Amino acid sequence: MARHLVTSALPYINGIKHLGNMVGSMLPADVYARYLRLRGHDVLYICATDEHGTPAELAAQEAGLPVAEFCARQHSAQKEVYDGFGLAFDHFGRSSSQQNAEITQHFARRLQEQGFIEQRTVRQVYSVADGRFLPDRYIIGTCPYCGYDKARGDQCENCTRVLDPTDLIDARSAISGSTELEVRETKHLFLLQSKLQSEVAAWLAGNGSTERWPVLASSIARKWLTEGLDDRAITRDLDWGVPVPGDTWPELAAEGKVFYVWFDAPIEYIASTKEWADSAGSEDRDWKSWWYEADDVTYTQFMAKDNVPFHTVMFPATELGTREPWKKVDFVKAFNWLTYYGGKFSTSQRRGVFADAALDVLPADYWRYFLMANAPESDDTSFTWELFASSVNKDLADTLGNFVNRVLSFSRKRFGDEIPAGGAPGEPERELGEEIGRLLAAYEAQMEALQFRRAAQALRALWSAGNAYLETKAPWLEIRTDPEAAALTLRTAMNLILLYAVVSDPFIPTAARAMRAAFAPAGDAAVWVGAEEARSLDALAAGMPFTVPPVLFTKITEEDLEAYRERFGGREADAGADPGTAPGADAESGPGAS
Ligand code: MF3
Ligand code: ZN
Repeated sequence: MARHLVTSALPYINGIKHLGNMVGSMLPADVYARYLRLRGHDVLYICATDEHGTPAELAAQEAGLPVAEFCARQHSAQKEVYDGFGLAFDHFGRSSSQQNAEITQHFARRLQEQGFIEQRTVRQVYSVADGRFLPDRYIIGTCPYCGYDKARGDQCENCTRVLDPTDLIDARSAISGSTELEVRETKHLFLLQSKLQSEVAAWLAGNGSTERWPVLASSIARKWLTEGLDDRAITRDLDWGVPVPGDTWPELAAEGKVFYVWFDAPIEYIASTKEWADSAGSEDRDWKSWWYEADDVTYTQFMAKDNVPFHTVMFPATELGTREPWKKVDFVKAFNWLTYYGGKFSTSQRRGVFADAALDVLPADYWRYFLMANAPESDDTSFTWELFASSVNKDLADTLGNFVNRVLSFSRKRFGDEIPAGGAPGEPERELGEEIGRLLAAYEAQMEALQFRRAAQALRALWSAGNAYLETKAPWLEIRTDPEAAALTLRTAMNLILLYAVVSDPFIPTAARAMRAAFAPAGDAAVWVGAEEARSLDALAAGMPFTVPPVLFTKITEEDLEAYRERFGGREADAGADPGTAPGADAESGPGAS
């Protein structure tokens, strides 16, 4: 039994996430974690809210709440939505936890001891109107490289170049719009990434990761390393964050400095694991064995493409610099953007579908399947209600749902409440078994390669194979002349349903459970059947009772579509979007925090 650690990029605390956020990190991580659990692995799926930084402070201010209170509420609100989406985290923690403060401070002390941290006096932009130092991303202006006029001081969303605020042309405060910006001196800790550059490069090359990673992540990682690692300030002048420890840096601690949110956020992967262990109140959960000298653990991370540099280069540099054997990522799966009718999702303009509203409209399985089957893997994907409806209607309602219902209802009507006996498998069953075995092997291979679109395709092909078999055998005709033949067909089809009930689970856990319940107690536990074994299609024996589950998926009608477009803003609303703008350019969908 292999140990698999799975993490998805920590959703930033302010605001319910939209479908683009879901498909870019948490949803695929959950699908993968569910798959691995089904295959019998020891899996730990860890996530958390990313709670520090200026955006949280400002959002709390706007909400008229103390920031700790604001974060507590937002955390629960997000957790509720993720539960609704069926995200089966082993733990969904909080980066503002005590555990994270301790481990982050430990990392900083170790880096200091090993000579990878240096205190420097820097000149930083202070906004007189706002009465605060402005984090890089709160200074906006024109990108000197591509001319994009809403480039942020940390990174240009349009050309993805990393920027320094002083690079910007016509800089202004993103909070107040004020151009009354001064440069003031302040002291900060710097992580000497330049000293770790060659080690990070060796780590990437050495374990062969970049060759095995899906190409989007590896190409971004390589590009970053080639451009070279700069030393980075890892502290900020803020009230909310992990305090710089006074035992090591008394002066900075006295000034109330905190660590930069991007320093403590990835460490929360570790800290959230400790929260998971601590919350059990027993010795059963050994958080450290997942992270420290954890050579037997396979670690896979999920994230949107803008997060890749932090995970493939900066966090590994931080880990390497401690000179302690912290677990480093083995596989990085990155995603492109999901757009809304080709434009960006936007809270401020009320365009797009947010996770809570999505669940309001339809159950999680509809979204989970659609999003994964159309995941923005090799390119951006455009969400449209039309595409969503056709995918739901064709794949879920017609191909899967209708098959399940048709087979079980017809069998009950003709043969009663037990799986019908009679007939012996012949050539059609052998051919079907061959195909099922082949498709299941393809499904497994794609899942293991983290190719979710292709995995969904294989799953859909498995469902279609059942339909094709049913159409060929036509038990509604067989029943007239040869009831035993009809019984064989239906029994075989029921075995397919039981197979679907297991292999569909990562994508559509609720429907999968409903399908298994039809064959309870035989289907109670989801037990993976290997491609070889699946061929025989005879796990369910004649005489076993079954029930007909309620309709698994209802079709989306034209009227529904009209109502959704109306509510969420369909094509018309999109006329107002600025095409050519990277979808991440909104505060809501871009890199989380500063
Ligand atoms: N909150 C960040 C974002 O939304 C992601 C943080 S991932 C972590 O882009 F590893 F750093 F925590
Ligand atoms: Zn640019």
